[in-house]
Amino acid sequence: RYVLSRGGRLEGRKVVVTAGGTSEPIDPVRVITNRSSGKQGYALAQAALDMGCDVTLISTTDHLMTPAGANLVHVDTAQQMMEAVINHTDQADLLIMAAAVADFRPFHPADEKIKKEDGVPAINLEKTPDILKEIANIREKTGFPRRVIGFAAETEALVENARRKIKQKRLDMIAANDISTSDAGFEVDTNRVVLLFPDGSSQELGLQTKLEAAQSILNKAASWFEKV
Ligand code: CTP
Ligand code: CA
Repeated sequence: RYVLSRGGRLEGRKVVVTAGGTSEPIDPVRVITNRSSGKQGYALAQAALDMGCDVTLISTTDHLMTPAGANLVHVDTAQQMMEAVINHTDQADLLIMAAAVADFRPFHPADEKIKKEDGVPAINLEKTPDILKEIANIREKTGFPRRVIGFAAETEALVENARRKIKQKRLDMIAANDISTSDAGFEVDTNRVVLLFPDGSSQELGLQTKLEAAQSILNKAASWFEKV
């Protein structure tokens, strides 16, 4: 494939990508997490580098090769991811939230390992912060990040759910992902993505590798930064 590290369509643009699933501690040895592999986020970071971007990759995983040239920031929890996103997007052109952020976390993680002889524990949960909603509020005041792309992995009512998320999180685009079939979504190398926009328009990408989907997403984003 072409490597457009110089003179690419997004030359010099500051892009922040989040990748992987957050994990939320129950006690010092146990966490609540999800099945996100981080592959789509890493593919986005690679595609952004290929297009000449300055890339910060905020990741929860140690299992994937960091794309050469990316600035890697490791986080575990939703709270840590939110802080890292806020810190790294204050001058950014584009934020892409490909991470699967945990929606709930243990309300009061135990300081010591929970012992089974104490019986089956009830784990009380609370909501994590919604990073994209927080970013929407910051962007309203500061203008940064200039553009925001979200993801939505759905098992049903893909388009309706994704359209609601565009509005609620004030996104410029959402990449909606049908994870009801085994050839797309978590853990595999392919995705079946529909891009949805706030004006109601959409573009179906069909079954693509995660790198191809990433290139399609960034090509769309590049058009936002080009004078017409
Ligand atoms: N997201 C976020 N902060 C959260 C949860 C999700 O910023 N606490 C982001 C994800 O990274 C993704 C987008 O919001 O880009 C949509 O995530 P999704 O899980 O599909 O939506 P939720 O708003 O969490 O709704 P639900 O899981 O109930 O469908
Ligand atoms: Ca969620």
